[in-house]
Amino acid sequence: MTSSTTSAPTTGTPYGTLPSASPLPQRKPVSLPRLHEMRERGEKITMLTAYDATFAAVADAAGVECILVGDSLGMVCQGLSSTVGVTLETMRYHTESVVRGLQRVQATAWVIGDLPFGSYHESKEQALRSAAELMRGGAHMVKLEGGGWTAETVRFLVERGIPVCAHLGLTPQTVHALGGYRVQGRGDASALQLKRQALELQDAGAAMLVLEMVPALLSKEITEQLKTCHTIGIGAGKDTAGQVLVMHDMLGINLGKNPKFVRNFMDGQASVRDAMAAYVAAVKNGSFPDNELHAW
Ligand code: KIV
Repeated sequence: MTSSTTSAPTTGTPYGTLPSASPLPQRKPVSLPRLHEMRERGEKITMLTAYDATFAAVADAAGVECILVGDSLGMVCQGLSSTVGVTLETMRYHTESVVRGLQRVQATAWVIGDLPFGSYHESKEQALRSAAELMRGGAHMVKLEGGGWTAETVRFLVERGIPVCAHLGLTPQTVHALGGYRVQGRGDASALQLKRQALELQDAGAAMLVLEMVPALLSKEITEQLKTCHTIGIGAGKDTAGQVLVMHDMLGINLGKNPKFVRNFMDGQASVRDAMAAYVAAVKNGSFPDNELHAW
């Protein structure tokens, strides 16, 4: 065989392989104290979901502080009609993939693993076993949905050294009980209940609280009443401590109609990384979300 028929050595990395030797990190690892400092100085916290190594590494490179390995993966990766069917085993698999991707490029994001439906409902002990599974997979924090009964579980996990992000408002794991993907906290009684549950979760030690599809004014009030628990909004207006979107939504990979609270950040951008950087910039400069367009 002559040299002209031998294939030339490849110069790029195949299959989108992440580089194993990356530039030194541009920021210190994101930690709870650093997130707290951001809140203190009024800097918005940015969060995106990611479910695999590459997208997680790209999100980190774009400046996203927190990566949520959300059980929304059931819908965007597995094709389920809700998050109810997602298992703990699947969550661990995706958490490990995300963490591996971040480690490979010496990335610095804070990783939150979502506890799936049925993995923390039985008892505090079951919640601890499930949380330990995700922490062993590399998560820095776990997230669980709901208020009231969950406060005791949050306290149990936090006392055992597991940082917890709570989730109130539209809680997708209970979508059937809620009667669909609807705005929550409308009306005095419902708003009061959300405020009370948010305080209970802070008191139990939750360090973050996702507020999903909650009227902007109510989430502003909840944010103001919570000093050590940082609110992260999705369809909750601009006045939360931070924002989160499902990655597929903000990249416009949605054949249906996007929910009102989503902006397609891919519009006008040349790459996924640019789109994610545009999201980070828009959240930080307060131009996203716009209460007139993306909130109730
Ligand atoms: O699972 C998820 O992605 C979530 C976000 C919608 C906050 O919980």
